Amino acid sequence: MNKIDNKSTEQNSTLDPSNPLFAQRQSFIELNARQRALCFFDGQEARELLGPFDRIESPWLAMQDVTPQADDGCVVMKGKIAGENAVVVALEGAFQGGSLGEVSGAKLSTALDLARADNQKGIKTNAILLLETGGVRLQEANLGLDATAEIMASIIELRNYVPVVCVVAGTVGCFGGMSLAVGLASYVVMTREARLGMNGPEVIEQEAGVDEFDSKDRAFIWAVHGGVQRYQTGLIDMLVADDINEIVAGTRECIRRGLPPQHRSAQVKLFRQRIAELDTTSSWDDPSALRQTWTAEEQA
Ligand code: COA
Repeated sequence: MNKIDNKSTEQNSTLDPSNPLFAQRQSFIELNARQRALCFFDGQEARELLGPFDRIESPWLAMQDVTPQADDGCVVMKGKIAGENAVVVALEGAFQGGSLGEVSGAKLSTALDLARADNQKGIKTNAILLLETGGVRLQEANLGLDATAEIMASIIELRNYVPVVCVVAGTVGCFGGMSLAVGLASYVVMTREARLGMNGPEVIEQEAGVDEFDSKDRAFIWAVHGGVQRYQTGLIDMLVADDINEIVAGTRECIRRGLPPQHRSAQVKLFRQRIAELDTTSSWDDPSALRQTWTAEEQA
């Protein structure tokens, strides 16, 4: 069964304004990718691999009059989390919408592959992915698609050894091929500000028309792609506040739990069954009622 996390409901977290900790929150969303990655490590100490001073940047952007970035919008850090080796990879949403190109994609998949190799050698290495991305970088097209396929293959191999935890904090969200990568994760942590979906609002509007999807209607977008919707429909494991402590604690808790009995991507039957139930029950337009039903089933 899909694991339901009762601890991270609004009542128990700093999402609830009546919680005294509500006013003490420190925004995670406002941090850049490097700062975000560092938060997760013991003592906030880690070393960066292929950092900006290695100057491995996209060779394709300048040809298209786009200024490249010295880390290609992908930060890879290694250190200890709860005393165990860990690699954290963060995509920088502020650079080209966090989109994945040849270099950033290779950095991400290679980091996962090296973690897998360490695990195979008996050196336990956990992995956290901080994803703020519009998906494949449009200026690098097929290379970005190829990178996405490699990342998905790397996640599938690594999750045989340790849980792969994805965090989508916002504000870009996670779209395109990387939303499929999120679907392969062992655990997914999201804020209510974040969005998760295959096609972004602009793309749906462009392809299907404004009557189908109005990309300027923010309430509608979050009702379809937002963290609360994704949590209530069981596609993520934890809904957390935009708070550094809460996001770090939630992610560490996922690592502590170890591998789930069955990954979400293998629960095809369960999700098909839920979709079938949606067609026949009156709770279709009330996802929170649905989630409560599943929780009750699990506890029975
Ligand atoms: N490749 C290249 N650049 C991208 C990108 C991508 N895949 N996704 C976003 N960007 C860029 C935007 O062009 C914009 O650049 P600019 O600041 O130079 O204009 C910047 O990232 C921010 O995007 P913007 O749309 O202004 O921000 P937003 O918060 O309103 O929306 C997204 C962010 C990701 C939801 C939106 O850009 C989107 O829907 N992108 C398409 C996602 C998608 O469907 N991907 C799958 C394609 S198969």
